[in-house]
Amino acid sequence: MASLSIESLRKSYGSVEIIKGVDLTITDGEFVVFVGPSGCGKSTLLRMIAGLEEITSGELKIGGTVVNDLAPKERGIAMVFQSYALYPHKTVYDNMAFGLQIAKVDKAEIDAKVRDAARILKMEHLLDRRPNQLSGGQRQRVAIGRAIVRNPQVFLFDEPLSNLDAALRVTMRAELAKLHRDLGATMIYVTHDQVEAMTLADTIVVFEGGVIRQAGSPLELYHQPRNTFVAGFIGSPKMNLLPVTVVAATADSVTVAAPWMTAHLTVPVEPGRLAPGSAATLGIRPEHMAAGSETGLITGQVTLVERLGHQTIVEVAAGEGAGVTALIDGTRMTAVGSTLPLTFSGDDVHLFDADGVAAVRLKVPEIARARRERPAA
Ligand SMILES: Nc1ncnc2c1ncn2[C@@H]1O[C@H](COP(=O)(O)OP(=O)(O)O)[C@@H](O)[C@H]1O
Ligand SMILES: [Mg+2]
Repeated sequence: MASLSIESLRKSYGSVEIIKGVDLTITDGEFVVFVGPSGCGKSTLLRMIAGLEEITSGELKIGGTVVNDLAPKERGIAMVFQSYALYPHKTVYDNMAFGLQIAKVDKAEIDAKVRDAARILKMEHLLDRRPNQLSGGQRQRVAIGRAIVRNPQVFLFDEPLSNLDAALRVTMRAELAKLHRDLGATMIYVTHDQVEAMTLADTIVVFEGGVIRQAGSPLELYHQPRNTFVAGFIGSPKMNLLPVTVVAATADSVTVAAPWMTAHLTVPVEPGRLAPGSAATLGIRPEHMAAGSETGLITGQVTLVERLGHQTIVEVAAGEGAGVTALIDGTRMTAVGSTLPLTFSGDDVHLFDADGVAAVRLKVPEIARARRERPAA
């Protein structure tokens, strides 16, 4: 187990810079999840940590030691990929044992480690099978077992569940959380799955174009996104980001107006650069809107209805091309073409300045400030 420290890390392929100066500290035993759009450099950064890609500049420390020039096998790291990359002709046992056999580890020690990993992963009954006799989830567990037997200081996972069907992903997600609790190991995990990121992470790191846009606990990112990029990236359905004009500002509130709103809205934030007259962006999460009765802050024609059961996703044309998405009570009667009033509270919304930087919210729920509580292992 170890901490990790990344300082001004950069990576270029020829003249193209992919990782553009990343600073990140990961504490011993932390579960860190990297998210970001496809191509933003998540895999590249993971491979740099593993030693599979050369570091162009900057410093990478594992457990306090600079490892920039250490070979992958000297870094105490194990990596699990989306493709399991198992040896098809070897048994589960030998797939897990192989790395240790190559390293000439004592046979009895290998046996103990493989059986221990099989126990942790509930695979004791599968040790004699070959990969083609296993389900996708079982194969991925073998790949994870192969990582466990190496007793690494840090586990790296690159979208390990992407090849699994939805139900299996849910099961494996819970198993990974348990594995992390049981091993207490430092883990870095890349995913494009919102729920995986929110549920597994102590810290989520949001990347865009090779830079970190924000790092924080899942609920910190949800309740206090620092910019419009993170605001739009974390949360599903996505946060509505709509143009408004500032009409008044005090020390602890900003009041905004817009042609698509039927009234002014006062938001409890530090005004920062949001002076009266300036243009701003109002962020409203779909789940923070409710269908009103007579009038709403927004009233418009419904353009889309998606019934999920307990909730319904609606899209409402709020005038001037501003379409908003709302997540409303699933029992509410509504149809495309009808008029729907939507209400929301200033306490739940976000305000961003012209550069997309968030104003500091003053009524953030307590839970968004707390570190995630973990049950004792
Ligand atoms: N060996 C390489 N040579 C040149 N460009 C590469 C190489 N590997 C990755 N890239 C580029 O680096 C960028 C980041 O890729 P990657 O780290 O795989 O993104 P992510 O995992 O976030 O989807 C992409 O634009 C990709 O095309
Ligand atoms: Mg990738």
